[in-house]
Amino acid sequence: MSRTVYVNGEYLAEEDAKISIFDRGFLMADGVYEVTSILGGKMIDFAGHMKRLGRSLSELDMAPPETDDEIEAIHRELIRANDLVEGLVYLQVTRGAADRSFVFPEGVKSSLVMFTQVMNLTQAPAAKTGIKIISIPDIRWGRRDIKTIQLLAPSLGKMAAKAAGVDDAWLVEDGCVTEGTSNNAYIVKGGKIITRDLSPDILSGITRRAVLRFAREAQMEVVERSFTIEEAMNADEAFVTSATTFVTSVVEIDGQVLGDGTPGPIARRLREIYLDESRKTAT
Ligand code: PDD
Repeated sequence: MSRTVYVNGEYLAEEDAKISIFDRGFLMADGVYEVTSILGGKMIDFAGHMKRLGRSLSELDMAPPETDDEIEAIHRELIRANDLVEGLVYLQVTRGAADRSFVFPEGVKSSLVMFTQVMNLTQAPAAKTGIKIISIPDIRWGRRDIKTIQLLAPSLGKMAAKAAGVDDAWLVEDGCVTEGTSNNAYIVKGGKIITRDLSPDILSGITRRAVLRFAREAQMEVVERSFTIEEAMNADEAFVTSATTFVTSVVEIDGQVLGDGTPGPIARRLREIYLDESRKTAT
């Protein structure tokens, strides 16, 4: 069935939606995006995603395409028009269409594209089994704190994982894990939750922020520091967080099984808390 999507001021059937071939998103990956999860037809942490979008735009000197209120209204209309109960709303802003040039064009309006995607978030099989990962070099650029649409490196990472017969990859730079291809990475050792501290090396996950807050509120100890793959392979537990995976256990790293090879208690507890809180606070 055809979805209703949004392109630059219009709601259209997906097959009628069009973007210029001169759009700088298409030509240069000159754009940013957000993925907001939908649970029970409501948005999880919409304010957090809007705040990060604002930061991504300002770091790249890109004009906001609409006001925050208008962007919220578009999210709601797409959820309604597509009867979306569980899944995501994808939002992409690019610098707009202009003759190809490395220099930013002046006076060009940003493009805004949004669409919904149905996804089974709460009952994803990986939530029960956990995921297996490999480690690979982090070949991305140096501003991973900006959520840009340049996703070829993470895409190659997922393909390397697929070729290795596992689910995902963790990225390693200067001997330490930065993050997952599309999620933040954590290990648990002796009851401590360890995750890399925020810097331009990683994306400041909206789910990360919520999960660390819930962990601290539940009296769990959180340490924000870098860790190596060797440390991860010897951890009691490991997990990832993102808008679409919530909290998902990692049960194998580079062939090394963690614990008994099933999701560990801390990751399971954090997923439970995250889901409960998200159901309560989704808007
Ligand atoms: N990815 N790190 C990277 C590199 C990511 O791409 C993502 C999200 C995260 C987690 O951020 P958040 O908790 O705000 O979703 C961390 C999205 C889901 C995606 O590209 O589909």
